Amino acid sequence: MTQHDRLLIIDFGSQVTQLIARRLRELNVYCEIHPFQNVTDAFLAEFRPRAVIFSGGPDSVTREGSPRPPASVYELGVPILGICYGQQVMMQDLGGKVDGGKISGGGGTAEFGRAFVTPADERLPLLDGWFSGGREQVWMSHGDHVSRIAPGFKVYGTSPNAPFAITADPERNFFAVQFHPEVHHTPNGKALYANFVRLAGFRGDWTMGAYRAEAVARIREQVGDRKVICGLSGGVDSSVAAVLIHEAIGDQLTCVFVDHGLLRLGEADEVVGMFRDHYNIPLIHADEQDLFLGELEGVSDPEVKRKTIGKLFIDVFQKHANAIEGAEFLAQGTLYPDVIESVSFSGGPSVTIKSHHNVGGLPEKMGLKLVEPLRELFKDEVRALGRELGLPDKFIGRHPFPGPGLAIRCPGEITRDKLEILRKADAVYIDQIRKHGLYDEIWQAFVAILPVRTVGVMGDGRTYDYACALRAVTSVDGMTADYYPFTHDFLGETATRIINEVEGINRVTYDITSKPPGTIEWE
Ligand code: XMP
Repeated sequence: MTQHDRLLIIDFGSQVTQLIARRLRELNVYCEIHPFQNVTDAFLAEFRPRAVIFSGGPDSVTREGSPRPPASVYELGVPILGICYGQQVMMQDLGGKVDGGKISGGGGTAEFGRAFVTPADERLPLLDGWFSGGREQVWMSHGDHVSRIAPGFKVYGTSPNAPFAITADPERNFFAVQFHPEVHHTPNGKALYANFVRLAGFRGDWTMGAYRAEAVARIREQVGDRKVICGLSGGVDSSVAAVLIHEAIGDQLTCVFVDHGLLRLGEADEVVGMFRDHYNIPLIHADEQDLFLGELEGVSDPEVKRKTIGKLFIDVFQKHANAIEGAEFLAQGTLYPDVIESVSFSGGPSVTIKSHHNVGGLPEKMGLKLVEPLRELFKDEVRALGRELGLPDKFIGRHPFPGPGLAIRCPGEITRDKLEILRKADAVYIDQIRKHGLYDEIWQAFVAILPVRTVGVMGDGRTYDYACALRAVTSVDGMTADYYPFTHDFLGETATRIINEVEGINRVTYDITSKPPGTIEWE
């Protein structure tokens, strides 16, 4: 197996450390984030990075016991880039001086937000492509500041509040910047990372083609001739994991797709058709609609709905998994953001490990070992891998769909009638969005059927039917969201279509709540 060039990001607790990894992955550079506590001399010797980046962080290097890398990092002979707190760490470690700002009680100048950096006379290869317009916008977020740079370093860029905005020791390829080049508000930040990895000699060998071949080899080695089961939700992650594993071990993989009766129009057929007919992957299609909808009868409390569905899902999955003789592994579509060990935001020494939330609780109960071939990937890399594996674009680009499905888009009691109406209305709405070319601009769009009926008039008759709400949001990660600003023409046309085409709905509203204070789903 090829050994990729590896870049090490030492995490000092910045809220945007993950973005550094994102920028590097976009440059086809393989990198890993490790909390500073874990980076020891032995770790560095084993990891053998081709370059190192020190992240930002909330602490102050003027505080005794503040986070530091091991001194041996400076002896590796590889380029180092220090960002914000990372810059201050470098300066302090290498003989410069840092003064406390407002946050650490030093009274100096703190600086948060947009700033403009202007270049020094001498050029630095790290800044190729910078300053063509004379100055560059950058994003600052620091309390402390460097008051004296370390021996060997020179200044290559300044801002009004940061005389040492960009410094470097070109002899050793040590670079230190006060701002955050990884964030959106430093528009030319990507060029800085591109220059850094070029100077470090990275070959850009982290491609999805290479990843696919290596992942296949790794799965074969792990699984041998034993069997794997995989719960399919119809979402992108579990689908890509299943297709990849199937490529590695063929029919040793069996997928279980649980249809809880809360799927969208045609969804079960689409998933089953794709996996069974197109990919020839052994698939158990567990039609458990009666079980789920039966248990949900009369339930209107959102939490009870979620818990009921979660428990039944595990029961059903387990029942089918038990029937697969010799299954020793469970496949999960766990992604890198779920497994990164990041320094907690509080800046304390404790390490936060995000808990897996894919098929939570299953593995231990079932005594199965895990196969998680997407553990090193970000969401958009999973999509790229899906394309590499030949999954249809339409499938890969689908909006997220929650595990509890339509149950949480049907406030109040769930009935088969309401679900039927909801499915049809949702299909018309999504069709409208696709026809207007808006699907990819929107993070998630769906219809919720409301637990009220309203009076209307159609033709010469009176109607008394359900009202529904359209929801469409933009978001980066689902944690915060804005409602999508459709035109009135679009909304009017969509409302007319839904009312004309879907029997049972006579009123359409548009939900203009952002998150927070709302959530994306209605329950
Ligand atoms: P909320 O409603 O919390 O949703 O703003 C944020 C994102 O998470 C999805 N979501 C879920 N996904 N199981 C899932 O797999 C769930 O129980 C669940 N609840 C919400 C939601 O669709 C949105 O993308």
